[in-house]
Amino acid sequence: MNTLSQFLFLSLTFIWFISLTAFAATKIHPDERKALEDIGKSLGKKDWNFDIDPCSNKPNWVTPPIPKVLDNNVTCDCSVAGDNFCHVIWISLKGQNLQGTLPPELSRLRYLQMIDLARNNLNGTIPKEWGSLTNIRKLALLSNRLTGSIPVEIANISHLQELELYNNQFSGNLPPGLGHLTQIRTMRLSSNNFTGELPVTFAKLTTLTEFRIEDNQFSGKIPDYIQNWTSINKIMIQGSGLSGPIPSGISLLRNLSDLRISDLKGSEYAPLPQLKNLTLLNNLILRNSNINGTLPENLKTLKSLKILDLSFNNFSGTIPKTYADMNSVKYIFLTGNLLTGPVPAWKKNVSVDLSYNNFSISQGSQICQDENVNLFSTSWARNDIGNSSCLSFECPKPSSSLYINCGGNQTRVNGKSYDGDSDSSGPARFHTSPTGNWSFSTTGVFIESDNLGETYSPKNISKLTMEDSELYTNARVSPISLTYYGFCLANGSYTVNLHFAEIMIPDDQTYGSNGRRIFDIYLQGSAVQKDFNIAKEAGGVGKKIIKQFNDVVVTSNTLEIRLYWAGKGTQSLPNKSVYGPLISAISVESSDSAPGIISAGAAVGIVVAATIIMLSF
Ligand SMILES: *[C@@H]1O[C@H](CO)[C@@H](O)[C@H](O)[C@H]1NC(C)=O
Ligand SMILES: *[C@@H]1O[C@H](CO)[C@@H](O)[C@H](O)[C@H]1NC(C)=O
Ligand SMILES: *[C@@H]1O[C@H](CO)[C@@H](O)[C@H](O)[C@H]1NC(C)=O
Ligand SMILES: *[C@@H]1O[C@H](CO)[C@@H](O)[C@H](O)[C@H]1NC(C)=O
Ligand SMILES: *[C@@H]1O[C@H](CO)[C@@H](O)[C@H](O)[C@H]1NC(C)=O
Ligand SMILES: *[C@@H]1O[C@H](CO)[C@@H](O)[C@H](O)[C@H]1NC(C)=O
Ligand SMILES: *[C@@H]1O[C@H](CO)[C@@H](O)[C@H](O)[C@H]1NC(C)=O
Ligand SMILES: *[C@@H]1O[C@H](CO)[C@@H](O)[C@H](O)[C@H]1NC(C)=O
Ligand SMILES: *[C@@H]1O[C@H](CO)[C@@H](O)[C@H](O)[C@H]1NC(C)=O
Ligand SMILES: *[C@@H]1O[C@H](CO)[C@@H](O)[C@H](O)[C@H]1NC(C)=O
Ligand SMILES: *[C@@H]1O[C@H](CO)[C@@H](O)[C@H](O)[C@H]1NC(C)=O
Ligand SMILES: *[C@@H]1O[C@H](CO)[C@@H](O)[C@H](O)[C@H]1NC(C)=O
Repeated sequence: MNTLSQFLFLSLTFIWFISLTAFAATKIHPDERKALEDIGKSLGKKDWNFDIDPCSNKPNWVTPPIPKVLDNNVTCDCSVAGDNFCHVIWISLKGQNLQGTLPPELSRLRYLQMIDLARNNLNGTIPKEWGSLTNIRKLALLSNRLTGSIPVEIANISHLQELELYNNQFSGNLPPGLGHLTQIRTMRLSSNNFTGELPVTFAKLTTLTEFRIEDNQFSGKIPDYIQNWTSINKIMIQGSGLSGPIPSGISLLRNLSDLRISDLKGSEYAPLPQLKNLTLLNNLILRNSNINGTLPENLKTLKSLKILDLSFNNFSGTIPKTYADMNSVKYIFLTGNLLTGPVPAWKKNVSVDLSYNNFSISQGSQICQDENVNLFSTSWARNDIGNSSCLSFECPKPSSSLYINCGGNQTRVNGKSYDGDSDSSGPARFHTSPTGNWSFSTTGVFIESDNLGETYSPKNISKLTMEDSELYTNARVSPISLTYYGFCLANGSYTVNLHFAEIMIPDDQTYGSNGRRIFDIYLQGSAVQKDFNIAKEAGGVGKKIIKQFNDVVVTSNTLEIRLYWAGKGTQSLPNKSVYGPLISAISVESSDSAPGIISAGAAVGIVVAATIIMLSF
């Protein structure tokens, strides 16, 4: 071999070596490529193209995101292992309606730091193998159809900062090991079927900034240890199954900006905790939370408060005058308490719901809606026993029926004329029909919704095919409470038919189809159905269900139909305006006598009259 060929050989070897290292450095590790093939199969991710290197940042490994809608991103780190290969550190497949299951093979991506599979249609359980992925910081599986319990192995993901499991069908107790996650920041477990008490180990989760456990089946009390979560910004415990009262220690959580607790169980009451130092509060929602005593005199230190919701508690006494001067506040809900006395002079730009209290203001006057203040029904009691001061309608001739096409136009169905009910509603709205014989009252805001206002009388999102679809095409909704109040009904026994169809949740394979709407139904003040789920009872969305209630007794010419959201069901499927009560139509008929047939009393009268006439002959 001469020197020239020796030189050439060496040069070529050198070039080959250089190019190998240069190009190999941009290549995924073969084991991880293999793992991704299995992962893609399991997830039902069909558009991953393995002819292109998964670490290439090219379509379809990375595509431009559509914020809040879609994300498709596999990101690698080519220096993380020091082995001249690229390794997957990040997988985000959001809003793609994937139909598969969670892949155990994910555990083969040893360098993975983030997995986000939000808003798909995945079913099955969380593989326990994922517990070995100790570098994961964010595990997001929200808005799927996942079941089973959280594997205890998940507590081994020691770097976990964000655990997002809401809007699924997970069940079982929370693993106590989760209390040992020393870096955890957000834990969102809402809208699942979790049971048991919150583990005592959670006392140590002092790094938490957000804790959401709404809409579950937990038991036990709200633990006192939450007072140790001093970094917390958001606590959401609506309809969780936990009992009250609210621990007074929340007074210490100075970084709280959003506190939402509602529908606590148990019968133990306590006064409202001190709120003075919680100066960052934006949303203060403590609804139906076993609170008694008086309203706090001064909330002026809460300089950024926007929503104050203390509805459905046992607050007594008067509303402090200072409440009219809280300049940041937009919504005040004091509905359903025992408040008395005069009502402050509110500014025009705040919506205030004071219905179901014991104020003296409208005792003599007829005011039920004063600008944005809903004063309907000045007392709980009087709502059932009639004589509402909001009834500015004389009742010379009581009726024996009532038909309303809620949220829709006047229409005729089965020979009955349903009144139109298309008045626009709002956060604190009382409205009486043009005929004067019925009203509705709505309370609440869709708190995270961008398009307020349009959402109180929704239209069906897809074509309805049921009989009498004109009753179901439009509906009336409300985020907290929705009352229909019939006036001027002849006293006696009635059959009340409430017509429902779920028209806001889609019927398809999208993630939004996993929405669950759940609310409670009260007639004449009594609960006649808790946890009513329209779609479940109707056998699907876009189908009608007529709930019939017999022998509903009217004693003071008035009938109250009240629908209430007790914090149950999903709140963001398919969007953030889909929760709370929805009703399509109401039909009420006297059951004492069929229309047209002379009542027993009248018949006796006729017989008596006829006898007198005969005798006089
Ligand atoms: C994909 O994710 C990585 C890691 O967060 C990020 O740097 C990159 O901008 C994302 N690409 C797109 C197109 O969103
Ligand atoms: C997931 O759902 C599909 C139908 O949609 C079903 O065939 C499959 O058995 C489910 N898998 C699991 C693990 O539940
Ligand atoms: C979880 O970690 C513990 C030690 O902290 C270990 O004994 C156990 O084997 C781990 N489990 C898994 C599935 O990695
Ligand atoms: C929750 O679990 C209970 C039984 O523990 C079951 O009856 C119910 O259907 C479950 N709910 C959901 C939404 O899975
Ligand atoms: C809060 O933490 C302190 C010290 O870490 C502990 O002594 C106390 O018991 C905790 N409080 C509650 C209510 O758990
Ligand atoms: C409260 O929030 C501020 C600003 O985000 C932060 O600097 C501070 O450390 C937080 N306090 C606690 C106890 O976490
Ligand atoms: C609040 O309710 C408790 C019973 O749970 C009672 O002992 C207490 O006196 C009540 N306080 C007020 C101010 O009504
Ligand atoms: C509020 O903070 C002040 C000053 O730090 C403190 O003296 C007071 O005890 C706190 N009040 C409550 C109710 O925690
Ligand atoms: C709460 O108010 C109701 C009346 O609305 C009353 O019957 C009950 O005794 C009150 N409970 C407490 C503990 O104050
Ligand atoms: C409402 O109007 C008052 C002036 O009348 C103003 O000071 C306040 O900031 C306004 N509040 C909101 C929430 O816009
Ligand atoms: C309502 O207020 C009246 C006085 O205005 C009072 O007599 C009555 O006891 C109050 N009712 C309740 C339930 O507090
Ligand atoms: C009711 O009828 C009016 C006029 O006919 C129409 O403009 C409106 O869209 C209808 N509203 C509903 C909710 O169908």
